[in-house]
Amino acid sequence: MAWNLPNEFQYCLNTITTLQTPGKKNLVIWGRKTSEQFKGDYMPLRNCLTVLLSTTLSSLPMHADIICRDFEDAIQLAHTSPLSEQIETIWVLGGVKLFEEAVKHPLCSRIYFTDVMAHFNCDVFFPEFDEEIFKLVEEFPGISSEIQEENGIKYQFRLFAKQ
Ligand SMILES: NC(=O)c1ccc[n+]([C@@H]2O[C@H](COP(=O)([O-])OP(=O)(O)OC[C@H]3O[C@@H](n4cnc5c(N)ncnc54)[C@H](OP(=O)(O)O)[C@@H]3O)[C@@H](O)[C@H]2O)c1
Repeated sequence: MAWNLPNEFQYCLNTITTLQTPGKKNLVIWGRKTSEQFKGDYMPLRNCLTVLLSTTLSSLPMHADIICRDFEDAIQLAHTSPLSEQIETIWVLGGVKLFEEAVKHPLCSRIYFTDVMAHFNCDVFFPEFDEEIFKLVEEFPGISSEIQEENGIKYQFRLFAKQ
């Protein structure tokens, strides 16, 4: 990641590991490179099962619960017993190809987006999405809409929900 925003990262962790129903689990889906960057003592992610997307890996790396070959396989798995009885929310954590597929998927209902208000020399970007379909939610419980600042970088949490 090009920036170091510990509070923003903690907000992301809290968001994906929170459950409404005790005993359930959330399902995290991410690509191989993104998963390799999650190494802190917050791993394995509390209350989560993790699906690693890879066309090359044949054995589970540390902290991955399942390997799937593509996004649709992961979605199908989550909707098939026994996972279908266990999973509360599916969180797609990237990278790019995965985000591109997810924002076009009929089951994708929300985009939790942090607008980082600074310029970085990045080589991967969150894809364009249709803001007529995903509308900005002005106020949402538990999500501050204030502009925040850490390490001299301003950012703002934004939630887009499908209409
Ligand atoms: N700011 C953020 O919120 C955020 C979020 C996510 C990622 N990132 C950044 O983005 C960078 C990595 O993103 P990336 O897009 O280059 O890589 P990535 O998606 O994390 O990893 C790419 C690899 O994952 C597998 N993969 C990804 N999508 C797949 C799909 N739909 N079906 C099957 N396999 C799939 C493939 O592995 P195989 O080669 O093994 O087939 C592919 O080579 C990192 O720097 C990370 O920090 C930032």
